[in-house]
Amino acid sequence: MTANTSLVFKATRSSHPRSVAEREEILANPGFGKYFTDHMVSIDWTVEDGWYDPQVKPYGPLTLDPAASVLHYAQEIFEGMKAYRHADGSVWTFRPEVNAARMQRSAYRLALPELPTDLFLESIKQIVAMDHAWVPSAPDMSMYLRPFMIANENFLGVRAAQKAAYFVIASPVGPYFAKGVAPVSIWLVEDYSRAAHGGTGAAKCGGNYSASLLPQKEAYENGCSQVLFLDSQEGKYLEELGGMNVFLVKKDGTLVTPDLTGSILEGVTRASIIQLAKDRGHKVEERKISIDEWRQGMASGDYVEAFACGTAAVVAPIAALKGRGFVAGDESAPAGQLTMSLRQELTDIQYGRQPDRHGWLKRLV
Ligand code: COI
Repeated sequence: MTANTSLVFKATRSSHPRSVAEREEILANPGFGKYFTDHMVSIDWTVEDGWYDPQVKPYGPLTLDPAASVLHYAQEIFEGMKAYRHADGSVWTFRPEVNAARMQRSAYRLALPELPTDLFLESIKQIVAMDHAWVPSAPDMSMYLRPFMIANENFLGVRAAQKAAYFVIASPVGPYFAKGVAPVSIWLVEDYSRAAHGGTGAAKCGGNYSASLLPQKEAYENGCSQVLFLDSQEGKYLEELGGMNVFLVKKDGTLVTPDLTGSILEGVTRASIIQLAKDRGHKVEERKISIDEWRQGMASGDYVEAFACGTAAVVAPIAALKGRGFVAGDESAPAGQLTMSLRQELTDIQYGRQPDRHGWLKRLV
């Protein structure tokens, strides 16, 4: 059989899609990442053939040989994006070419094949065209898109796999945090780092997230929703949270966020917030921020707001920083004003309620 190496996707409709009533019930209260749509995308790759057999097909389990390399050496990367329904019923996504480029950089770092941008963009169009009825129209809801790639060569030698597969699954979602946009507390972890100098911190690979799970448990045990990691060399400078970037706001309106040192994920939301703040005339500093600077700044009133941001969480206000033996900030404090107005502006653009002056949106349906 000759491989289909064209951009033309083969479409196979599910013979057992969820009924309209079942779908409506899920869309009424989707939570985050709990339910999946009726279809998925798959594209295969081998060293010999390159990318081939692009398909949109019924959602279902993958068949993996127990020797598949991803199961042993975690050669895996992923992306996070959303599809937004506008008031006129059309469906759009946000800066998808930035995700495509980041996935290529992640692939390079994990020695996986780079998926060409046009194939990535087409895969997003295909799944959303097939499952557009799953894109919620209620406020603050969207369809989360999860492109991912795995090495699936059946080989236990430790080297870059010669066989891989790319998939996209989709999940209707509400807020990432159970409390919605209510301010969260974050936990300063002292015993673990998220990523090392020269490691995979800037890549969106599953391993970074599995390394965050034990400290994340510690955060939950201490009543916090996310964990804050410091740099691995000095244990002194803010890096990022378990699954999102972090921003601080000074009383003069300056935004401060850790610079991209190679161990921090280059968030699409992070970059967009920086642009929107600069458009408003705010100073934005991307630099090293020591934990002492932040704690002292909170105590002196120099730092007045903080927030987490990412595709899944959008912009989430941080009320307090907790750690072994201390609480900085006020756990019951309301969300910061600048935090909430940046969140509003970003979501107004994403949901088509405000002009898209930077050309960030791409229509899918
Ligand atoms: C995202 O924000 O899209 C992520 O991939 C992070 C994860 C917490 C869901």
